[in-house]
Amino acid sequence: MTNRFAVILAAGQGTRMKSKLYKVLHPVCGKPMVQHVVDQVAALQTQKLVTIIGHGAELVKSQLGESSEYALQEEQLGTAHAVMQAAPLLEGQEGVTLVVCGDTPLITSTTMEELLKHHEQVGAKATILTAHAEDPTGYGRIIRDENGNVEKIVEHKDASEQERSVREINTGTYCFDNQLLFDALKNVSNHNVQGEYYLPDVIEILKNQGHIVSAYQTMSFAETLGVNDRYALSQAEKTMKLRINKQHMLNGVTIIDPDNTYIGADVSIGQDTVILPGTIISGSSSIASNCEIGPHTEIRECKIGERTVIRQSVAHNSSIGNDVNIGPFAHIRPDSMIDDEVKVGNFVELKKAVFGKGSKASHLSYIGDAEVGADVNIGCGTITVNYDGKNKYLTKIEDGVFVGCNSNLIAPVTIGKDAYIAAGSTINQDVPSKALSIARARQVNKENYIDKLNKNE
Ligand code: UD1
Ligand code: CA
Repeated sequence: MTNRFAVILAAGQGTRMKSKLYKVLHPVCGKPMVQHVVDQVAALQTQKLVTIIGHGAELVKSQLGESSEYALQEEQLGTAHAVMQAAPLLEGQEGVTLVVCGDTPLITSTTMEELLKHHEQVGAKATILTAHAEDPTGYGRIIRDENGNVEKIVEHKDASEQERSVREINTGTYCFDNQLLFDALKNVSNHNVQGEYYLPDVIEILKNQGHIVSAYQTMSFAETLGVNDRYALSQAEKTMKLRINKQHMLNGVTIIDPDNTYIGADVSIGQDTVILPGTIISGSSSIASNCEIGPHTEIRECKIGERTVIRQSVAHNSSIGNDVNIGPFAHIRPDSMIDDEVKVGNFVELKKAVFGKGSKASHLSYIGDAEVGADVNIGCGTITVNYDGKNKYLTKIEDGVFVGCNSNLIAPVTIGKDAYIAAGSTINQDVPSKALSIARARQVNKENYIDKLNKNE
């Protein structure tokens, strides 16, 4: 089998994004564009995958990690100059080299595989992935001769009126005979409107040397969208979102309104889970089967068990068990661990709280820096007083405890197993197991006091 190599171009600043963040690091459905490209290329199992880095080199490197080798392009002199930086890693080796731009996040391994197949079948030395664009503005145009053979690519800025009327565009993905590519790159000049070394010029060079150059047109322009500005970024986001949602639906997840459901690229969801409109699930969250999530719910970096219901709520960096019922309007803050069969009702906030099996906080509570055992009932309005302005302290509530409504538990404090806190208590000392603790002023009733008041008027 022929060797396969890949070069991903990711050194540009991305001026048109008007951003401090380097272009290829802008996320699409929560994942940086260049990572989408690398993930798809990785599926092709190339012998070598080289990413050309320049602007934001260290950040791109730390994003992609070991999945790629790197070549540094110190000055961004154009896409041909970029590929040339991979010469020390690739030059002279026999095989096919795929070149992909780091700003085409929607490209799929399937399409790249088709491109490589076409390249091999026609015995070409270079094959361009092209697409038909309704609005080709900004893209390089594919110029063919009267027989339909590819002659060259002309950049939009360099194109004549007639060339600009061509709707077949260069998607920025190509494959080349590796040895010929690096030879041809040496002959690319920068005599053009932008004063850059254009990779597309390699096509004309190889053609003039008498080699077969070819084009493979994909049916899906959407897949080849190049993201140069925020408008294109929003289009990429939209297409990627629908692609991700469709995949989940085909896997057995019900998504009531896919246009208004935002699921990150690395999220997993089990069968028969229903996602209601306005829901955003991000990071590497995983949701097991038979859950009901939403409407209008935000889940970030959470692991959620089976048959759990979360309505109109926010949950971050937490684990949530099976058969849990959350919301509406609950806030699960980072480092919370919610066990099975728990209920967290409206206007309840958890932060760094362990919540044992079957425990309930049904209404209006703040439980922070707490370890709550199993089968605990937290009454409405209960607050763990965890912060003295400087430090945070732990509240421990053991199994079977009943906390009456509107209690303050001033940490550090431990409520022993099966203890009972009377409503309205402010607890600042440990409560022994099975004790009833009442910590509030005794009620005084002043008989007929109102009549006396009225008489004095
Ligand atoms: C490029 C193509 C154009 C094609 C379009 C498809 C050239 C000259 N033009 O145009 O024919 O239709 O892509 O989307 O290639 N980069 C570097 N180093 C550089 C310059 C660019 O690494 O010196 C990287 C960028 O980070 C980017 C990619 O190459 O990821 C493409 O560069 P960009 O400036 O976006 O090219 P386009 O103008 O879109
Ligand atoms: Ca581009």
